[in-house]
Amino acid sequence: MYFDLSEEHLMIRQAARDFAQTELKPGVIERDEHQKFPAEQVKKLGEMGFLGMMVDPKYGGSGMDAISYVLVMEELSKIDASASVVVSVNNSLVCYGLEHYATEEQKQKYLVPLAKGEKIGAFCLSEPEAGSDATSQHTTAVDMGDHYLLNGTKNWITNGGSASTYLVIAQTHPEKKSKGINAFIVEKGTPGFTVGPKENKLGIRGSDTHSLMFTDVKVPKENRIGEDGFGFTFAMKTLEGGRIGIASQALGIASGAYELALAYSKERKTFGKPIAEHQSIQFKLADMATEIEAARLLCLKAAWLKDHGQPYAQASSMAKLFASEVAMKTTVEAVQIHGGYGFVKEYHVERLMRDAKITQIYEGTSEIQKIVISRQVLK
Ligand code: CAA
Repeated sequence: MYFDLSEEHLMIRQAARDFAQTELKPGVIERDEHQKFPAEQVKKLGEMGFLGMMVDPKYGGSGMDAISYVLVMEELSKIDASASVVVSVNNSLVCYGLEHYATEEQKQKYLVPLAKGEKIGAFCLSEPEAGSDATSQHTTAVDMGDHYLLNGTKNWITNGGSASTYLVIAQTHPEKKSKGINAFIVEKGTPGFTVGPKENKLGIRGSDTHSLMFTDVKVPKENRIGEDGFGFTFAMKTLEGGRIGIASQALGIASGAYELALAYSKERKTFGKPIAEHQSIQFKLADMATEIEAARLLCLKAAWLKDHGQPYAQASSMAKLFASEVAMKTTVEAVQIHGGYGFVKEYHVERLMRDAKITQIYEGTSEIQKIVISRQVLK
């Protein structure tokens, strides 16, 4: 067993850390306040190769491994989870799915600009009545011969307004249940496809979350991904990797809050000494450091399995389940350590606490991760 990161990993992590400090930190409070999508910052992340990190360079990607992805996600999420979710969705839910399951023509047309960061993608699975229960798709894709006719509504779509390329999951053969579902590539601007208003959220307020409406949208047959009925497997396979991304986002939110609390505890004095010298604070810091390290190891283990071509569904769900709980707990404690200052925006920890909550919800709630894990351990 070898725990050290390579020189290349260290350089990638440093690049992400520097970017987060210099490009994401200025303005992060205002973007959160005004729900402003970090468009300029996302453009720069694309130029750095972080939007198609794991895609083969022959398709415009950076050819990095999943370990690098965890490192980058942690560093960006320490500062701005609204920006890092764009990195996660574009890499894991959009580029991964296209690289592994799309045709060569689809890859050239759609994957290349997404991997280069010239365009942003969105993954459209959730519906008003199909969140956790993802097989209950109400959006329909009726086979009309040379095209499919898409009708329905998608909810909570990350990058919903800013994406150009949407991977949309829909039911074609209801009688076949999960085996009748398909995945389609839908371009923004296709007649009948409309983007609803931006959601006003508790956390990751800079990220661009919308409902999407499809009314008699004609999707060319060649935009279906994989064989007829492959859509649910496509979504599940894609989410396996996505959960590594969100686990790493949760890890970053936790470590960002911890670093702030650690620094504050050395500066802030009460009863004649820095609060870091009070055992009540030391115990909190010890718990935070231990739990963050455990979450980091779970994220890296899942990434290592993926990089080595081994099954990683259980590992990615374990990482997401644990890291998101650590994110919630750590950020609450970070606010507590900051006292009244933790409750105001300038100290950043209240935002991290709000951002942490979504990591227990999206890409499968904690309860969904427990379903995935328990099915694996009971096999
Ligand atoms: N790989 C391959 N096949 C899979 C699979 C996987 N990981 N998981 C399930 N399948 C297959 C099953 O084997 C089954 O096939 P058979 O009928 O041949 O056995 C079929 O798919 C149906 O699976 P289940 O019977 O397990 O289906 P289920 O209804 O019990 O649901 C679930 C399974 C794990 C709960 C799934 O519905 C799920 O993951 N739900 C959560 C969805 C989710 O994560 N949504 C997040 C939205 S995306 C998002 O949040 C992005 C964002 O914006 C940030």
